[in-house]
Amino acid sequence: MPGLRLDNNGTAMIAKDQLDKERLPRHVAIIMDGNGRWAKKKGNPRIFGHKNGVTAVRDTVEAAAELGIEYLTLYAFSTENWNRPRTEVDALMALLVATITKETKTLMDNKVRLKVIGDIDSLPDTVAQNLQATLNKTKDNKGLTLVLALSYSSRWEIVSAVKQLAEDVKQGRIDSEDIDAKVFESYLNTADMPDPELLIRTSGEYRISNYLLWQIAYSELYFTSTLWPDFRREHFYEALADYQNRERRFGKTSEQIATEPNENS
Ligand code: IPE
Ligand code: IPE
Ligand code: MG
Repeated sequence: MPGLRLDNNGTAMIAKDQLDKERLPRHVAIIMDGNGRWAKKKGNPRIFGHKNGVTAVRDTVEAAAELGIEYLTLYAFSTENWNRPRTEVDALMALLVATITKETKTLMDNKVRLKVIGDIDSLPDTVAQNLQATLNKTKDNKGLTLVLALSYSSRWEIVSAVKQLAEDVKQGRIDSEDIDAKVFESYLNTADMPDPELLIRTSGEYRISNYLLWQIAYSELYFTSTLWPDFRREHFYEALADYQNRERRFGKTSEQIATEPNENS
């Protein structure tokens, strides 16, 4: 068939125009996993995989921006990743600085606003300074918001939120009786962001690894065996198409959903 695209396994892939533009998620979160295994398969050191992961990031960000998706949250470095060998951590931090500096122009060209969630204070000064410069530069962009989860873990985020909330109760700024889910969410790093409708994890691992635990309460989960450095916009479209075939019920019955237009988008 002319124009038919095949993935590595010979499976037909979804094209952008096959997606229903009216039913795209507002927020997609991705656990970018498999860089180390990708490099190892090619007989290279792990950092080679991280470097090649940047191409996948660029392609996915461009695709999300083009589609008009509002938020894309990428898990780039977890709290637990600090426990990796020092050489890998240092190389990842250096790669981060180099990438942020190099990609700022692409972000501007695509009207992308950068945002960071995580324990920014734990990042080396050079990383923090570079990040801050790009955050400032892109802050008025009105297109996609690209959220980097850096030195992030969900339990860290939740505990930080609880501490701040407890302090506000102690200082009389809020009454404990008034705490509800909405109030609690406003203390998270993701305050003001919609919850992700779709969470993608690459590399064939079926776990969440301390990512957005509160926010993914009702997210659709999509797992693919593709290793992150091989992930391209076609894989992203595939995940979005899969999402569009799901029925999101939020505890209701299928029959109720069928009679409530727009509830399943
Ligand atoms: C994901 O790839 C990137 C980071 C966690 C920074 P990995 O480095 O976890 O690659 P694998 O899972 O070991 O293959
Ligand atoms: C999760 O991947 C963190 C990132 C993608 C940044 P990991 O590779 O660190 O997760 P585990 O250790 O396999 O659960
Ligand atoms: Mg991994």
